[in-house]
Amino acid sequence: MRNEVLSKTVKLLLDAGKGLLAMDESINTCNKRFRDLNIPETYEYRQKYREFIVTTPGLEQYIGGAILCDETIRQDTSAGIPMAEVLIKKGIIPGIKVDNGTVPMASFPGESITEGLDGLASRFENYRQLGARFAKWRAVIRIGPGIPSAACMRFNAQLLAQYAAQCQEARMVPVVEPEVLMDGDHSLETCASVTRDLLLQVFEALYEHRVDLSGMLLKPNMILPGNNSTQLFTDEEIAGNTINCFLESVPAAVPGIVFLSGGQDAQSATARLNAINLYQAKIKPWRLSFSYSRAILQPALGIWKGEDQNIQKAQAAILHRAACNHAASTGQYHPGLEN
Ligand code: G3H
Repeated sequence: MRNEVLSKTVKLLLDAGKGLLAMDESINTCNKRFRDLNIPETYEYRQKYREFIVTTPGLEQYIGGAILCDETIRQDTSAGIPMAEVLIKKGIIPGIKVDNGTVPMASFPGESITEGLDGLASRFENYRQLGARFAKWRAVIRIGPGIPSAACMRFNAQLLAQYAAQCQEARMVPVVEPEVLMDGDHSLETCASVTRDLLLQVFEALYEHRVDLSGMLLKPNMILPGNNSTQLFTDEEIAGNTINCFLESVPAAVPGIVFLSGGQDAQSATARLNAINLYQAKIKPWRLSFSYSRAILQPALGIWKGEDQNIQKAQAAILHRAACNHAASTGQYHPGLEN
């Protein structure tokens, strides 16, 4: 019964080329993005921002699920309707970020662990009542001199697995997000080897914690050189490296891989997802789609700038990026769509 509920949710989330919209920036991260654009860092402005996202006309054609943060899942629109209810009425499944962010890992300078397991079972029940049917937990792995350490990867993998087990117990689909950051001057080869080792540890931990792989989604980074690296690769090369890394580390039982954008510019994140879907491998057992935040929302935020008169144009920008990524998730994107 539980397996059926989870499989049904996975199917709806990724139905017909759809992907996820990660609108779950924490209050601090959201405020930081506002600060960069001189938008007031207040509850009222965050509400306006989340409201125009969830009310974007036509969003449901491309987005199967939207990940909210704790503030938003408890927040109403200016018309007094809960944001989660607006999504449900459109046919978009609300999800919830349940981790409490990262803290430095003691004795391991430069590395971090993710907090949030305390009281998680009762929080899941509460979020379920508020409409959430899937959840997200993000682990962050940094590449640098001497890092990541084996201990940091192992501990983050255990945390992800225990979160995923509790999530399924609450009949919600876990989105398991082990992110290898793009920050740094490391090579694509280093990103590939760290990501593969991390994913192998994550799946070992998921197995150990008895997580049903067919009722979860993986949210990883693509295989890319660091953002300060001088290496250049075509989208096709990135696609090949990404798929080959996953073929060595992600079981076929996982129904879907939904990428994070990780700081790539919006068009690159779309073009690379498209190349990943076009890449010819012997087998590609998973649906390959998106769970982007910045690569869908950042252009719209720059248009909105906190001004009511810009909302329609900002919504058009969200819809445009969602449509392009929807096309990319079935390999049908081409740069002409940008016009
Ligand atoms: O946790 C990170 C978000 O869910 C994905 O954000 O697409 O901006 O990397 P991003």
